[in-house]
Order: sequence, then C-alpha cells, then structure tokens
Amino acid sequence: MNSRGIHIGLDIGTSKVCAIAAEPDHEDILKVVGLSNSPSTGLRRGTIVDIEATAKAIRKALDEIESSAGIKAEEVTVGIAGEHIFSLNATGVIGIADSSKRSGEKELEITKEDIARVVESAKAVGLPNGRRIIHVIPQQYTVDDEKGLRKPPVGMTGRRLEAQVHLVTSATASTKNIISAVRNAGCEVKDFVLEPIASAQSVLTEEEKQIGVGLIDIGAGTTDAIVMSKFGVEHTVSLPFGGNQVTSDIAGILRITEEQADELKLMYGHCFIEKTAVDKVFDVKGVGGRQDRNLNESEFAMYIEARMDEILNMVKANLKENGMLKHLNSGLVFTGGGSKIPGLESLAERVFEMPVRLGNPIGFTDTTEMIDSPEYATATGLIAYAASCQPEGLKRLDRGALTQIFINIKDFFKHNF
Ligand SMILES: Nc1ncnc2c1ncn2[C@@H]1O[C@H](COP(=O)(O)OP(=O)(O)OP(=O)(O)O)[C@@H](O)[C@H]1O
Ligand SMILES: [Mg+2]
Repeated sequence: MNSRGIHIGLDIGTSKVCAIAAEPDHEDILKVVGLSNSPSTGLRRGTIVDIEATAKAIRKALDEIESSAGIKAEEVTVGIAGEHIFSLNATGVIGIADSSKRSGEKELEITKEDIARVVESAKAVGLPNGRRIIHVIPQQYTVDDEKGLRKPPVGMTGRRLEAQVHLVTSATASTKNIISAVRNAGCEVKDFVLEPIASAQSVLTEEEKQIGVGLIDIGAGTTDAIVMSKFGVEHTVSLPFGGNQVTSDIAGILRITEEQADELKLMYGHCFIEKTAVDKVFDVKGVGGRQDRNLNESEFAMYIEARMDEILNMVKANLKENGMLKHLNSGLVFTGGGSKIPGLESLAERVFEMPVRLGNPIGFTDTTEMIDSPEYATATGLIAYAASCQPEGLKRLDRGALTQIFINIKDFFKHNF
C-alpha cells in the first residue's frame, strides 16, 4: 500500500501477467486506478521457469499501471499457484491450565495468547525439507466438549482447547523465484496469497460462503479450486492443467500453430456440442503449404468438449477424494480465462450435477469496466485480500471469513532473506 492507500495486486499467470491498482473508495468499495496485462512467457503450468522473462513481463505491467495511476509501485501482493502447492487440514490441541501454570477458576479463561498457541501447535505437521507454510487459516475451535466454535473463544472457560486449521504449503524454491522475479522488476513482494484464496475474496458472496460453495479457476496452465463452508476454507488445490491443453489439442488435430489454435478457440470455440450449429462454418488456414479447410462449429466443439469434460472430471475427482462434494450446497463458481469458453456453464452443470455460475469481481468500481470478467478474479482478489489485512488503525475492508487468516509470511521473509 502506498501513501494514497493504493494496493497493487500482481497475478503472475501462465499466459499473462496482470497488475491492478486500486484504492478504497466509499462503503467498502475498491476503485480501480490502473489495470494492465502483459504476455507471460516465463511460466510453465503456473510455476516460474524463466526469472528474467517473468521479470520483464512484470516490469511492463507495472510501468503501465504506474503511469495510468500516477504512482510508484514499491510493493505488490502477489498470487501463488502451481503443482508445488500442497494443502491439508490439521488439528492443534493445548491444555489451558497445565501449560500456562495458572490455577484457580478465573485463570482458566482462554486468552488471545492461548489462541495463538493452539494455532501454532496445529502448524507442527512435520513438513518435508524445502517446503513452507504460506497460510494458516483457522476453521473452528473446540473448548472441552463444546465443538464447532467459529470465532476464537477468547474469554471462554475450559481446560482443553483444540483448533482445526487449513494449512497451505508451497515449495520454498518456487516462492523464492517469485521474489527474485519481482525484485528484478524493481519491486518488493508484500505478501503471497494462494490464487484461489484471492479469487474467492473477489467473486464469492457472503451467502454462498455461509451455505457452502466451490470456486474453480480455469487458467492457461493450472486449474485451481477452493471449497468454503461456514467454517471458512475447507480445501484448496492447484492442478497442473488448463486452457492451454485445449489449445494444444486443437493445434494437434488441425495441424496448425498454437497461436492460430488459440485464436480460433477464442473466435469460434464452444464446449457444449448440443448448443452449437453444424451450419456455422469457418475457415482454417493451412500451415506449410497445406490447403485451407472449412470446419463447422459443432465439429470444432467436439475437440474442445472432450478436453474440457476431462478437466472438469479431474477437478470433480479431486473434490470427491477429499470429501468436499458435500459442502457445495450453493454450487460452483467458475473464474479464469478458461471459464469464458461458451457452453462452460452447461457442461459443468452436467459434470457436477449442481448449479454453476461465472464469477466476475464484485465490490470494485472501474470506469473502463474492463475488470468485469472472470480472468480478473485473481488480481482483484489479491487487492481485496491486501485491503482486508490492513494493520490495526487503518481502514480495513470487511470481506468476511478470510479476514481471520493468520499470515506467517513475515516469518518467512525473516528466515529466508
Ligand atoms: N473467450 C475465451 N474462450 C476460451 N478460452 C479463453 C477465452 N479467453 C481466455 N481463454 C483461455 O483462458 C486461458 C487464460 O486464462 P487466464 O488468463 O485465467 O490464465 P493465467 O492466469 O495466465 O494462467 P494460470 O492461472 O493457469 O497460471 C488461456 O488458455 C486462454 O486461451
Ligand atoms: Mg491465473
């Protein structure tokens, strides 16, 4: 955040680096004051493989928002995703009386320090070398036999305090590569946020979170998911496939370049064959002296539907394996550029057998109306996250359950850099 209270969200994606700057406006609304995209070539499946190329793309995106917002980008809240992400639910338990060496009825009251201690104990899960915890998100507390307490039970009396938390871990090397790329672009990382956690901040409604909902972000190289219930974050995952697979399939089948394939996908692509027309025909330019050919929309949709159906089924299998389908009472919300393919909602409703909607950022004003699209869920969510994690005394946006997140990223910096 700079002196004007402007936050910058940096979404380093497989296909594009997106930077958005926004400042708190009136009534918990964030006003977008800069938005820019630059093509990204330094990532594979959500993970940086070329620091210099990524730094250049970041610099380009930051240059544009610096000039449009009239600011200097000094620090950014950055998204993290990729196959190296591993999340789990864990439990911590402490004794209130024993460990604090206090005695008497009054002293058994649970304090803020006890809450910090029990959350800390839930983090003791024995991570392998080269792995770091990036989020510790409390779900619920138990005091003696009193289960399912959503708020930290400060002031309650008891002998045994238990906390269930959702832990998100990442490969230390991947995190360091992000820091290097951002630093090489002349900026600093303020915080890391798991991308679906960020997206959830900007597109899910409070009602959906209370009832139970899943958010699925179909990007170019990764498909990320988060499941939220009234207890907060139940599950997060980053799977190594996305819209790029669809493009590669098209390029392979039609023997054309990936660029051509992506262009055709954006112009004529559909992923639900039933809703396409055989009489809508378009040209496919031949490559390397091959003849041009005609293709109808339905045949084209066959290639796309097959892969999208597979991607959705793999996400469903992951949610099922982790016992998450029971939480999706209000259905699913889709974000990411890959979700913009026409027919996605119908296909997803068939695969998941539940209501589906597309998730555009909410709670933002933007005179250009550019952010009103699912691929900006992550970058806007990073800003919403940064704004809701303001230090005491500064204006803090209330975005519900996630404001209780404990971020230990400051420790991460202390120990690694
Ligand atoms: N209108 C559209 N129809 C079909 N696909 C689209 C459309 N718009 C974007 N895409 C696809 O969405 C993908 C890019 O989405 P997005 O910008 O969310 O990815 P990213 O954030 O760069 O990648 P990741 O999150 O996987 O690292 C590409 O595969 C692109 O072809
Ligand atoms: Mg993305």
